[in-house]
Amino acid sequence: MTKPADKAGANGAKGQSATRIELNQFFSAAEARVDRWRSLHRLTKALAASDASASERVRNDVKALVDELRPLEELNGYPGPQLMAQLDQQLEAADAQALARTVQRISASLLSNSYRDDAHAWSDDEDNESRMADAILPPTLGRGQSRRPYFEVLIVAAGERATWPELRETFRKLRRDDDAFVYEPVVVGSFEDAVLATLFNYNIQSVIAVEGFGFASKHASPVLREILSPHVPADAVDRGGDTSGSLARVLRMLRPELDFFVVTDTDVAKLAGAEDSSSIRRVFYGVEEPMEIHLAVLDAIKDRYETPYFDNLKKYAARPMGTFHALPVARGKSIFKSNWIRDMGEFYGTNLFLAESSATTGGLDSLLEPTGNIKVAQDKAARAYGGDRTFFVTNGTSTSNKIIHQALLTPGDIVLIDRDCHKSHHYGIVLAGAQPLYIDAYPLTQYSMYGSLAIKPIKQALLQLKAEGKLDRAKMLVLTNCTFDGHVANVERTMLECLAIKPDLVFLWDEAWFGYARFSPFLRGRTAMGAAAKLKAMFSDPAYQQRYEKQQAEIGAIDPRNPKLLDMELLPDPKKARIRVYESDSVHKSMSALRQGSIIVVADQDFPKVEAAFKEAFFTHTSTSPNLQIIASLDLARRQVELEGYELVQRAIQLAIEVRREINNHPLISKYFRAATPAEMIPAEYRRSEFQDYGAPGWTIAKTAKALREDEFFLDPTRITLLCGNAGYDGSQFKGILASDYDIQINKTSRNSVLVQININNTRSDMAHLIKALADLSRSIEKRLADGGDAERQAFAARVKSLVEDVPDLPNFSRFHDAFRDDPKSKTSEGHMRAAYYMAYDAASCEYIKLNDSRIDERLRNGPELVSAKFVIPYPPGFPIMVPGQVVTAETIAFMRKLDVKEIHGFNANKGLELLNPDALAGHRAQSSQR
Ligand SMILES: Cc1ncc(COP(=O)(O)O)c(C=O)c1O
Repeated sequence: MTKPADKAGANGAKGQSATRIELNQFFSAAEARVDRWRSLHRLTKALAASDASASERVRNDVKALVDELRPLEELNGYPGPQLMAQLDQQLEAADAQALARTVQRISASLLSNSYRDDAHAWSDDEDNESRMADAILPPTLGRGQSRRPYFEVLIVAAGERATWPELRETFRKLRRDDDAFVYEPVVVGSFEDAVLATLFNYNIQSVIAVEGFGFASKHASPVLREILSPHVPADAVDRGGDTSGSLARVLRMLRPELDFFVVTDTDVAKLAGAEDSSSIRRVFYGVEEPMEIHLAVLDAIKDRYETPYFDNLKKYAARPMGTFHALPVARGKSIFKSNWIRDMGEFYGTNLFLAESSATTGGLDSLLEPTGNIKVAQDKAARAYGGDRTFFVTNGTSTSNKIIHQALLTPGDIVLIDRDCHKSHHYGIVLAGAQPLYIDAYPLTQYSMYGSLAIKPIKQALLQLKAEGKLDRAKMLVLTNCTFDGHVANVERTMLECLAIKPDLVFLWDEAWFGYARFSPFLRGRTAMGAAAKLKAMFSDPAYQQRYEKQQAEIGAIDPRNPKLLDMELLPDPKKARIRVYESDSVHKSMSALRQGSIIVVADQDFPKVEAAFKEAFFTHTSTSPNLQIIASLDLARRQVELEGYELVQRAIQLAIEVRREINNHPLISKYFRAATPAEMIPAEYRRSEFQDYGAPGWTIAKTAKALREDEFFLDPTRITLLCGNAGYDGSQFKGILASDYDIQINKTSRNSVLVQININNTRSDMAHLIKALADLSRSIEKRLADGGDAERQAFAARVKSLVEDVPDLPNFSRFHDAFRDDPKSKTSEGHMRAAYYMAYDAASCEYIKLNDSRIDERLRNGPELVSAKFVIPYPPGFPIMVPGQVVTAETIAFMRKLDVKEIHGFNANKGLELLNPDALAGHRAQSSQR
């Protein structure tokens, strides 16, 4: 990748080794290409304006820049060979004025992406656009029809380079006015160039591989080969070419949404039936009509483009419907004719009301029993998100989680759960009557937050359950991935190690924040569905069977008394392990769904056994009046990510890396603010690779890919913990300042940080807005300290110390009171939380003691134990520091007393802590023992 990527660093990155691409350069490649065109624009403008003496030097600079751009341009449809040839001619002819105009047009068009819609961008003749249009621009652009989506088709050609222009023309000539989409062919000649184009060209949606293409690219570097090597057959280079099957596999591993077609003139049937042909959409015989290929390409795009529910809703809205059911807003007549609320109609527009209905007729289908277009939309979503099935949920992931808990758990089951999980899980467990076995995540005390749940304590808990003969009751493990603050688990390893101890354990991965990760080849392996697919492949691979057998020979059957088990990476028996994975995902949090749009994605090989229970749970929690617009937005969000998810997510990650770098490298801002690095957010023991930071020198893609594969935790770059304690602000205060003085909204805070989230909606202007605000604030702190004298500086230092150093310890989960334990002597801490929860319904069972009342301290010293009647959930951090039935410890009280947040769910400061009183507890215990 020597040329396109090495030279594509956002900051130029010249002088770097020619064979190493660093991670930030990889992510910035597309942005850097545009930057380079803008530099070229500046230079060509200067050239046009310069006198003869200066022009030689500038011309040389222009030539050098064009030469840098050329390899990357070969992988892109726009500006394409003709405009590039024109540019070369103008350069050769020293026609500086014409050259400047051409470059300006290309640069502006790339910056705004207008070449996707605008005929002018493609024309190589400004004065005679219409004549040239037929030769150059996609003919359906700019002819007055409503916009047709534009994409590019990668053709991996077997023939000589000289034949490529004809190949391109063949496909261009096939375009028809009634095609629904318009595409531009991009031709490359090798396996490696195909990979480069797929990585760097966001417009590519389809690949046509003509069998017989070569392997090596003249641009590819050893690093690219290093990344690809696990996926490419070892003898591919020797064979001089590679099979289309393995190219399809590699490209779809990078971008699973791509459509892959093969053209061959050998044995079509054999290729179509080959082992690795599952990644190939269609195989064509070489001499067949190219029109068939063209239609197949368009048809495959249509498959992703169609949004069955939304498409039908639009049709429904356009029909002259008379409604005689509840829902007066449907059709909007009560609003548009109203004397008093007409502004509601004006604000939301007519379509919102025309598209409302409480009926499931007219093709609107039923979310509760989908058989029509909701079902099709859900099937498409399953494909997009990588599961076997997907369910739409219109009341947020809070509801998705409760559905999963209720579907899979029965009273008495044990659920291993990170205590830090979102409250919906804890409520779900109460509803299901299961017993939570809380396990604590590793604390990041310095930032007053928890990290994530490491594998070792999970294994410890499973092994202890086994030792006590309770493993059969352990049904499910619930983990958050990624956490609010961006801790991403090693999902694959977690599942492997747990399945080694409990082969049928179900996994619920709460990926409320992480849905978008599916569309990044970097992060996909760390998602629930990405890892489930890997496990599936692994369990049918003879090489894995051998690895398993080797480990078995070493350790024998799983024996909880074997201390070695905790420190080794356990492998499950592929013949016994079941893949039972559930993912809940707030599509509205990371993709373009309306608020509350959530999905459940399932890869459970035993789903048929739980399907009926799942349906009941779905009925329990789903409104019989689900919001149609949320369902439609889930359908549309799916369309978007299947067609442009890769581009959007790459850009978001790139932007996040830039934001981090700008903050931490800014001489003034970094005195007071810091974007916490992966090394600061993840303890060293979970970073085997010693990964420090995304932009750190020396961190190549290959090394980062290794960290992503092997480290126990990785930090999601888009979730930036912005430390503000050194500026003397606590999180809530700083959030308030950003909102009131700078119109910047932040969601989560901790004692000394706020969380800046970058998503597919953010732009470089947003980054500039944030950086400007931080710079302004830093300047005002400097001024205040300079003007305020010693007293001000001392007060500031004391405030910083209290925020940064005097942080309260985070209270771990203590235990359930013995009254709620089947066996109080057990070393595992699960308990009957539901019994405690309902006990609190009876006021006679409860007592209140104010937080600062000395009776609390007295009882902590001498008993009787304080037992929480409630979930007590401070915001932030948002996880329960007490659950019903939990014994309250001195650590919890100390934390509560230090907590300076205003919102604590389940706690009323005026009434005090709500506790279960000792008499009620004694009565409950007596009853339980008689049962
Ligand atoms: C980890 C986690 N899971 C679930 C949820 C609930 O998601 P929703 O807001 O979609 O109901 C949240 C909300 O913040 C969350 O942080």
